[in-house]
Amino acid sequence: MKKIIIAIDGPAGSGKSTTARLVAMKLGYLYIDTGAMYRAVTYLALKENILHDTSAIVERLKKSDLRLIYKDGVTTVLLNEEDVSEQIRYPEINANVSFISKIKEVREELVRAQRKMGESDGIVMEGRDIGTVVLPHADLKIFMVAALQTRAQRRLEEFTVKGKALELDEVKANLAHRDSIDSSREINPLTKADDAIEVDTTHQTIEDQVNYIVELARQRMVKTGNEN
Ligand code: DC
Repeated sequence: MKKIIIAIDGPAGSGKSTTARLVAMKLGYLYIDTGAMYRAVTYLALKENILHDTSAIVERLKKSDLRLIYKDGVTTVLLNEEDVSEQIRYPEINANVSFISKIKEVREELVRAQRKMGESDGIVMEGRDIGTVVLPHADLKIFMVAALQTRAQRRLEEFTVKGKALELDEVKANLAHRDSIDSSREINPLTKADDAIEVDTTHQTIEDQVNYIVELARQRMVKTGNEN
């Protein structure tokens, strides 16, 4: 069957990452987590103490080697040879990543790299602007949404598993704040592409949403296979 390109977008905590990763595993596709790239740049800015110096951030990013290695369902994020996969999930990254994602030159650099990664078929790329900007020619576009309360509870559980104690209200406020910045920024805001299929995960299990998207993907594979 013809391999296709799948774009999955949506706000934080909508279940995108887990779903995208499992869809990719089921189909034997490559999974690309673009949020991890914005997180790695945020890590770089915090580590080098240049968070409020946009030109320094862009300059450091251009000189940096940022790589996503995907193996056996696990993404490893390498920044200048340092494995930052764990650190980029910390609350201080969550608190600052939307600010970094607003920087035009950062987006240009990362979008260029993402388009390169998206050149081959058989990929699931996940983020905020994949269906609209990075891969507008994707064969299947999914836009995932979920109620804020549900998204906050999911994030809280993730942090609890990792041994980080946070309050639900704190997580909720952070998500709402990020949603507002991500959706209202001037460049490539979080928006649903006209041809994207909306999937509301508020009351769905991960398994249900994965099966649904895999089924949609199979239908597209047959369709694109027949068109060629
Ligand atoms: O999906 P995530 O929570 O790991 O994303 C982290 C941040 O990166 C999010 O607040 C918005 C930004 N982002 C973006 O602007 N564009 C993307 N394609 C992916 C993520």
